[in-house]
Amino acid sequence: MKKYKLGIIGMGNMASAIVRGVADSFFLNTKDICFYDTDNEKVQKSSLSLKMDSCSDIREVFLSSEFVLLAFKPQNLKESSSMIASYFNTDSNILLSILAGIPIKYFEELISEKAKIIRIMPNAPVLINKGVSAISFNSNISSSQKDFAIKMFGCIGKTVVIDEKYQNLVIALSGSSPAYFYLICKYMVDFGIKKGIDKKLAKKLVTGSMIGSGEMLENIGDDFNEMIVKVASKGGTTEKALESFKKNDLKEIINDAMESALKRAYEMEDSL
Ligand SMILES: NC(=O)c1ccc[n+]([C@@H]2O[C@H](COP(=O)([O-])OP(=O)(O)OC[C@H]3O[C@@H](n4cnc5c(N)ncnc54)[C@H](OP(=O)(O)O)[C@@H]3O)[C@@H](O)[C@H]2O)c1
Repeated sequence: MKKYKLGIIGMGNMASAIVRGVADSFFLNTKDICFYDTDNEKVQKSSLSLKMDSCSDIREVFLSSEFVLLAFKPQNLKESSSMIASYFNTDSNILLSILAGIPIKYFEELISEKAKIIRIMPNAPVLINKGVSAISFNSNISSSQKDFAIKMFGCIGKTVVIDEKYQNLVIALSGSSPAYFYLICKYMVDFGIKKGIDKKLAKKLVTGSMIGSGEMLENIGDDFNEMIVKVASKGGTTEKALESFKKNDLKEIINDAMESALKRAYEMEDSL
C-alpha cells in the first residue's frame, strides 16, 4: 500500500486546478496527494496553500504514490525521461499524463509494454471546473483504474473516453478551441467598441450571449441548422450577417485553422 493515492510531477496551473477540483469534490483529501516541482517557489506556495506534502525528487513521487500524474510542459519531458524509466514500478504505479501530444506508445517504449498508462487531454476551462478532458487508456489499465481517472477528471469538468488515435484531433477540437473562441469574442467586442460602446458593456453582451447560446446548444439543440434558423428570421439582421459569413467562406477559414492545429499535433508527435 502506497503512502499517497496521487503523486504529481509539475505543480503548475493544470495540476493546481486538478488538486482544487478533487479536494473540493471530496474525491481525494490533499493528505492523499504529494507533489514534486523543480520550481522551489511553487513548492513553498503549493505546500502552504493546498496543504500537500512535497517530495524531494521524482524518485520519491514514484516510490510513495500509486497514481503518478505528469503535469509539466512536454518540452521538459526529455530531462525527466530517464528518471521516469528508472523509478516507475510496473506492479505498483499507474501513470497519468496530460502532456499535450505525447502518445501512450512513448511511455510504453520508455518504461515497458506492461506499464499502466493513461493519457488525458484537458483544456483551459478546467481551471474553473468547466473543462472537457478526453481520456485514453492502454490495455493494461483495469476497470477500477479507469474509473479513478474518469472520476478524478470529472471533478474539473466533463470527461469523454476516446480511442487514443483521436487524441490529436481532440487537441484541435477542444484543447485549442478556447483560444479560437476568445479570438472570435475579441473581434465582436472590438466591433462594439469601434461603434462607440464601452468595452465592459460590449464584453458583457458578447460573452453573455455566447455562454447562453452554448448552454442552449448543449441542453436543447441537436441540430445546428435548426438552432440557426430559430435566431435568423427571414429578411432580418442575423440573415444578413450569415450571408456575409458565407460570402467570406467562414467554413473554409475554420476548416483551414483546425487542419493547421491537427497537422502541428502530428508534427510534434513525429518530432519526439
Ligand atoms: N494549459 C492548457 O490549456 C493545457 C491544456 C491541455 C494540456 N495541457 C498540458 O498540461 C501540462 C501542464 O501545463 P501547465 O499550463 O499547468 O504548465 P505550468 O503552469 O508551466 O506548470 C508546469 C510546472 O512544472 C514544473 N516543471 C518543469 N519541469 C519539471 C520537471 N522535470 N519535474 C517537475 N516539475 C517540473 C514547472 O517549473 P518551471 O516553471 O520552473 O519550468 C512548472 O512549475 C502541459 O504538459 C500541457 O501540455 C495544458
